[in-house]
Amino acid sequence: MLCRVDTTLQIAPSILAADFSRLGEEVSAVAPHIDLLHVDVMDGHFVPNISLGIPVIASLRPVTDVKFDCHLMMLNPDFYFEPLRSAGADSVSVHLEVFPNPTDAARGARASDLDFGLAVNPPTPFDAVEPYIELCDMVVVMSVNPGFGGQSFIEATLKKVELIRNFVESHGLLTDIQVDGGIGAANIRRARDAGANVFVAGSSVFGTADPVQAIEELRGKLREAQ
Ligand code: DX5
Ligand code: ZN
Repeated sequence: MLCRVDTTLQIAPSILAADFSRLGEEVSAVAPHIDLLHVDVMDGHFVPNISLGIPVIASLRPVTDVKFDCHLMMLNPDFYFEPLRSAGADSVSVHLEVFPNPTDAARGARASDLDFGLAVNPPTPFDAVEPYIELCDMVVVMSVNPGFGGQSFIEATLKKVELIRNFVESHGLLTDIQVDGGIGAANIRRARDAGANVFVAGSSVFGTADPVQAIEELRGKLREAQ
C-alpha cells in the first residue's frame, strides 16, 4: 500500500531532557528516527539557567549525521556562530528579544554556513517578527517562556503560529515554522493544524522510558487526518 507522508513535518527532540551522563547513547538511539536534534544553549543571562555549550556539541558530532539545530538562548550569540559551526552545528536560532533587528545576525549565520532561525518568546507579538520572516530559514515560536524544559504548553501562542503560517503561504515562502516548548502527544496535532511543521519535544521524548516509541507516537499523531 502506498502511504503518502508529508516530509515537511519534522520531529526535533531536545537533548535538554536527556540523561547527560549518557548523552551519546541517548542521541545515537533516537538519531535514526528524527529529523533534527534540538540543542538548547543557555547562558545564564538571557535566561535564568545554564545548559551546555560548544564542547558538548563537538563531542556529539561524531555520534550521528543528523542535523544539529542550536537554539541560542543567550546574549551575543553571533560571537559564537563560527565556533558553533566548527563544532558541528547546522543551524542556529537567535532571539528577536536579543536582536530587535536581526538582519546582521542572519548575514553572520549564513557567512558561517549556518541556516538562520529567529525565535520569539510568548509575549512577543506577531507584528514584531513579521518584518523579518523573509530573512529566516525558520521561525521558532516559543510555546513556553525559555529557560527550562518540562513546562506547560502556552495555548495562546498557536495564534502566532497561524499568523506566521498565513504570512509564509501568502508570500510563497518555504520558511519552516518550529514550535518549541511543552509539545507532546496531547497537543502536537493542534500545533500542526495551526501551521507549525517542526516540532521540538524534550520531556515528551527523552523524559520517557522509551524515547523511540515516544517519537513514533508523535509521528502517528501528525499522520492523523486533519
Ligand atoms: C526551553 C527550551 C525548549 C525545551 C523543550 O527553554 O528552549 O527547547 O528544551 O522542552 P520540553 O519539550 O520539555 O518543553
Ligand atoms: Zn529550545
